Parts: sequence; C-alpha cells; structure tokens
Amino acid sequence: MRGLIAENKTVYQISMEVAAILLFSLLFLHKSFATELDTISDSTFLTDGDTLVSATGVFELGFFRPGSSENRYLGIWYKKFAVRTVVWVANRDRPVRGASPLVLKIADQGILGLFTNISMVWSSNTTTSGNASAKLRVNGNLVVIDQNEKVLWQSFDYPTDTLLPGMKLGRDYLRGKEWHLSPWKSSDDPAPGGLTWGPDALGYPENKLRQGALVVFRGGPWSNERFPGISVYSKSLVFRYDVIINESEVSFAYNLEDNSILSRVTLNSSVHLESWAWVEEGKGWQSVVSFPRGACDQYNICSAYGTCSINMIQQSCTCLDEKRFVPKNQKEWDTANWSGGCIRRKQLECKNGSAGFVKYSNVKLPDAENTWFNMNMSLEECGTKCLNNCTCMAYANPEKSRSICLLWLSELLDIQVLPERSGGPDIFVRMASSELDSQSISRKQGGANVKIILLVVIPGVLLIALIFVTWLCCARRKRNHAKPKVEANKSQEEDMDLPLFSFSTISNVTANFSPDNKLGEGGFGPVYKWLHVPRVWKLYNEGSQMELIDASCAESCHPQEVIRSIKIGLLCVQQSAGDRLNMSSVIMMLGSEGELLEPKQPSFLTEKELPVVKYSSSTYTGDSVNEFTITEVDAL
Ligand SMILES: *[C@@H]1O[C@H](CO)[C@@H](O)[C@H](O)[C@H]1NC(C)=O
Ligand SMILES: *[C@@H]1O[C@H](CO)[C@@H](O)[C@H](O)[C@H]1NC(C)=O
Ligand SMILES: *[C@@H]1O[C@H](CO)[C@@H](O)[C@H](O)[C@H]1NC(C)=O
Ligand SMILES: *[C@@H]1O[C@H](CO)[C@@H](O)[C@H](O)[C@H]1NC(C)=O
Ligand SMILES: *[C@@H]1O[C@H](CO)[C@@H](O)[C@H](O)[C@H]1NC(C)=O
Ligand SMILES: *[C@@H]1O[C@H](CO)[C@@H](O)[C@H](O)[C@H]1NC(C)=O
Repeated sequence: MRGLIAENKTVYQISMEVAAILLFSLLFLHKSFATELDTISDSTFLTDGDTLVSATGVFELGFFRPGSSENRYLGIWYKKFAVRTVVWVANRDRPVRGASPLVLKIADQGILGLFTNISMVWSSNTTTSGNASAKLRVNGNLVVIDQNEKVLWQSFDYPTDTLLPGMKLGRDYLRGKEWHLSPWKSSDDPAPGGLTWGPDALGYPENKLRQGALVVFRGGPWSNERFPGISVYSKSLVFRYDVIINESEVSFAYNLEDNSILSRVTLNSSVHLESWAWVEEGKGWQSVVSFPRGACDQYNICSAYGTCSINMIQQSCTCLDEKRFVPKNQKEWDTANWSGGCIRRKQLECKNGSAGFVKYSNVKLPDAENTWFNMNMSLEECGTKCLNNCTCMAYANPEKSRSICLLWLSELLDIQVLPERSGGPDIFVRMASSELDSQSISRKQGGANVKIILLVVIPGVLLIALIFVTWLCCARRKRNHAKPKVEANKSQEEDMDLPLFSFSTISNVTANFSPDNKLGEGGFGPVYKWLHVPRVWKLYNEGSQMELIDASCAESCHPQEVIRSIKIGLLCVQQSAGDRLNMSSVIMMLGSEGELLEPKQPSFLTEKELPVVKYSSSTYTGDSVNEFTITEVDAL
C-alpha cells in the first residue's frame, strides 16, 4: 500500500515535469507574435529577448540584468536611450537566478505571472472570471485589465525607486495600500533599500524621507502649488500637481503639461531625491533639482521654533523671530548645539483674550504630523478655531487656491524661512497678547485685513444710511425752517439730490476732522466715521433708535424712515456674509418701502478680535491685502 502511494507520487511528479516541458516547447513553437506589441493576451506571451513597447514608443517592458548582476528581473525602462534607465521592477526582491527560460503570461483566472520552467516567480495577484490581458500604457503603467477594460492591477500601485508623471504617492484607505518610493540597494540590486519617501500616517499629508524609522528630510505639507520640499519649483506651464485628500485616499501626483518632455523623480540609496528631465535629443537627462540640498534640509536641525541658514562655511540656526523667541539653552546654542530649540520669551497662558497671532511669511510650514485639518474652512474661522484651543500653536492654509485649515497641536518643528519672494505660504503663530503690541503699526497694516475692511466699508454703508436719514430730516426741516448755510447756488438748491451739510455740522461730527475718526481715503477725499456700530445696535435693540438722530433734526424726522435706515445699516454688518446686504440691495431698499428682515446682532460684538501681526524676517512689506481679504470683500 505504502509502496503504491510512493510510486504514484513519483509518476505524478514525472508527469508534472513532462507537462512543464511540453508547455514550454509548445509555447516556443507557438510563439509567433510580431515585435512592438503593447499587449499580452491569453494567446500571447513574453519570453527572454521579447519586449512590450508602449504605443508611443517611449517605454519598454522586458527582462533585464541590472549592472554586473547575473540575476534577471522583469522591468520597465525608456526604450529610446542607449543607457538603460529602469523605472519599474516587478520582482525586485525575488530575482531569477540561473539561466532557465522566463515566460510572462496571463495564467488562469486573469493572473499576470512570471514563470520559470519550475515555478511562478512573481504575479499580479489578480483574479477575474473572464479573459484578462496586460498592457503597457503610454505613460509607462503596466495594467492588467479584464475584457471590459476594467483595471484589475497596475504597476503604478507598486512604485519602486521612480515616480513617473501620473503615479501617486500616498495612501489608498479603501484597499489598504501605501504608495511610496524606495531606492535600489545598489546599481546591481533593485531590492528595496532601507529608505522610503512617502507621507506620514497621521496629520495633514506631507512626504518624509525616512531611513528606517528616522526622518531624514521632510517635503512640507502637500499643495497643488509646488512639488513637496521644492519651494522654488512651483507650479508652472510644465508641471501640474494633483493633491487628493479625502476619506478614501490621500495622494500626490505630478503631471506634465507638455508631452514632449520626459520627466522622472528618483530616490537613490545615498539619500538623494532627484528630479530629472529629458528635454532634447543628445543632452541626456538633466537634473532639475535634488534633495536634500544641504545641511539646512536635514530634518529638524534647528529644533522647535528654530530656522536654519547657511553662512560661509556651515549652517547655523537662529530662532524664528529673535524679538519673541530665545534659545532654550543659550550656552548650548552658542556652541552650535541646537537640539534645545527656541522657546517664547513670554510664555503662553491658557486664558481667553491672552493670545493672538504673529504672521510669518514665506516659510516651509512645520512638521505636520501632529496637526488637525479641515479641507474647507476660511482662514478667519481657522484662526478662531486655533485661538479657542490652547493646544493649538499655529494655523495656516498651505494652498492659495483652496481654503484649507491646518492647526498645529504641538510645538513647531522643522520650520524654514525661505528666501524672499519664493512664494512660500504664511503661518500664524500663537503669541501672548503682550508680544503683539510692539508691532501695532504693522498690526494695523498687515494683519486683520478683514477687520480693517469691515471697519472701512461697513461704517461707510452706515454713513450713507445716516446721511440719507439726516438729509431726509434736514430737507424736511429746511422746507419748514431756515435754509442750510452752505449753499453754493440758491437756484439749484431745489433740484439738488445730494444732501448739504454746514461746515460746522461736519466739523462737529468728525470731531474737528480728527485723524482718529478718519477711516481712509477714497476717490472723493477722506472718509470719516461717526458713529460706533455697538453705539447703534444697543439703542436699536432697546427700541431707542430715535436717540441716534441729531437733536437739531429730530423733530422733522419720520420715525419709520429712521428705523428703516438704521435697520439697513445693521443688515450690512451681520456676522454671516449670507445675512449681509450687497450695495445694490442697500440702494434699492433705501429707496423703497418693502418689508425688511430683522437684523441680528452685528459681527463686531460677537466675534472675538483676532489680533494678527505681519512679520517678515527683515522688512515689513506693504502688500497686506491677500486673496483671503478679497474674498471677504466679495462676501460683503
Ligand atoms: C494577494 O492578494 C491577497 C488578497 O488581496 C493578499 O491577501 C495577499 O497577501 C496577496 N499576495 C501577494 C503576494 O501580494
Ligand atoms: C475568453 O476568450 C475566449 C477566446 O478568445 C472566448 O471563447 C471566451 O468566451 C472568452 N471568455 C469570456 C468570459 O469572455
Ligand atoms: C476621493 O477623491 C477621489 C478623486 O477625486 C474620488 O474618486 C473619490 O470618490 C473621493 N472619495 C470620497 C470619499 O470623497
Ligand atoms: C545618488 O545621487 C547623487 C546625486 O545625483 C549621486 O551623487 C550619488 O552618487 C548617487 N548614489 C548612488 C548610489 O547612485
Ligand atoms: C474662550 O471663549 C470662547 C467663546 O468666547 C469659548 O468658546 C472658549 O471655549 C473659551 N476658551 C477658554 C479656554 O476658556
Ligand atoms: C483642541 O483641538 C484638538 C483637535 O481638534 C482636540 O483634540 C482637542 O481636544 C482640543 N482641545 C480643547 C481644549 O478643545
């Protein structure tokens, strides 16, 4: 009995081997497909010396031996270059040793498999009940598709050391997949080295270069505007950056706008991340930028709140802002030991009203691992959210084109102040209130833009409303009583649509043209305020609106007109932009008698001040109106 089983086993083994040999012979006999195909289907296969070529002739897939190695791998490289530039390797850690023939074919159930005569070395790990095929696409992506062209598997999901345009770095939460780069161990061995370049698992995504668990270099929070870590390498006519951040995936990809350029980003084993472009025949690959660029790119070299600069010989660290920060340990710092970092001169207190923000422009945003973020929140709301949470140390929007709110929930690490005009993002760092006062001028200019605009525009509207009321009153009084004193031309007076005020009246209400009451200047001269919105809301709320009327006009005013004008004024200063009136509605409502909504409490009273100071390392620039402000103006 036992003998019989053993015998059967041998027979079985022999028959398997015979089958394999037969299969191979058959395959080789059967081999008849033309060169320059880009697809393998169930009737075709690839063996030593054969290649697939993408439709535009740029990429080629086949078997190769790297460097001086005897091992064979399945890979993709650029077809047109004499020096083979491999961009992807399938079996990077499962080399085929020896000389046995190799076959790449679609096996049962839609698996794309790499076979030797004895075993399957590598497979695409796909299953489908129908017929599958494999295709090398024009962008260098090897895909396994079913008969309906649905992608079952793609090489772009398994990056090696090269990022090609259209390939993603990041995480696919639905499939539990991570996309990162890892270098070849050496030019002879494509097995993954110990380095990775990809995003963290926590916080707002940004790429980190890690050696094992140690972070070596950090790219900065992702944005559609620049390549991670490359502040000077911003969006251009050539590149486009695609950032996706939602519940199902976080990913970063770059794309070329111009197909005549070839581009790739590589990571090599000596910790070099490099972007390459091939522009012209004969010039070969040009290095566009390479990282890390120097000692200052070393992760967190200056520790918390420190920033690095290169002097003649070596890098040196300074505190982010020497007015407000000091080295934690000055003695160590003086000996170029920067590990202690910097601390605020004035410690923060967790008390309402005790803090505000200082704006630092043109920075590489700090390490975002310990951040909270919201993909759709205005900078103003973001600031309020940060202010109301004592663990929040700073906030920023990493993108110009979107309203992303990013809050840092721990001390700020690995900040870098970038060169002037490099277009880096701004960060608003939490400071004790007393630290804000010394810069009160720039606070007015650079910070709180929204506040300034509210202060200028809204009282302006209120002013119009009040002028209207006063004019109504005075015009009526004028008819009954004496004429106004400032009259250029009596004969025109009856037809005048514009109110006329005596010099003394105007002088009176502007406190003798006091600069304190000046709001700004418009095309028609200086604009003064004259009243205080909280001085209006309170009276309106108490039903004492009539007290707002200047005593000299009061008797001739129509109470309904007064109330209406005040209501319209208040509707212009509502907290929510959606509740506010636009200018054409104001004009229309002032001239009509239709029902008006009841105003809610104006924003000035409910909203907490968000003191913001603009800071830049050397000068205070005049350009204080940013896009965020403009948006707010639109909202008004
Ligand atoms: C193949 O896929 C299955 C399920 O998707 C997974 O569990 C398995 O680890 C994969 N095998 C390889 C070799 O990737
Ligand atoms: C797969 O292809 C073969 C021949 O090309 C065909 O006969 C068969 O119906 C196909 N199967 C499916 C599920 O489409
Ligand atoms: C995430 O974004 C991708 C790409 O825009 C989209 O296909 C996917 O449906 C999104 N997922 C969610 C949950 O919004
Ligand atoms: C990695 O890239 C850098 C810069 O191009 C180069 O100097 C270095 O020799 C490369 N290292 C390896 C192992 O290829
Ligand atoms: C500060 O006040 C706001 C409302 O004014 C409140 O939401 C917040 O919780 C307060 N924070 C602290 C720390 O008291
Ligand atoms: C601050 O915000 C973080 C993130 O939203 C939250 O986990 C934490 O509880 C907040 N702290 C307070 C005091 O609200």
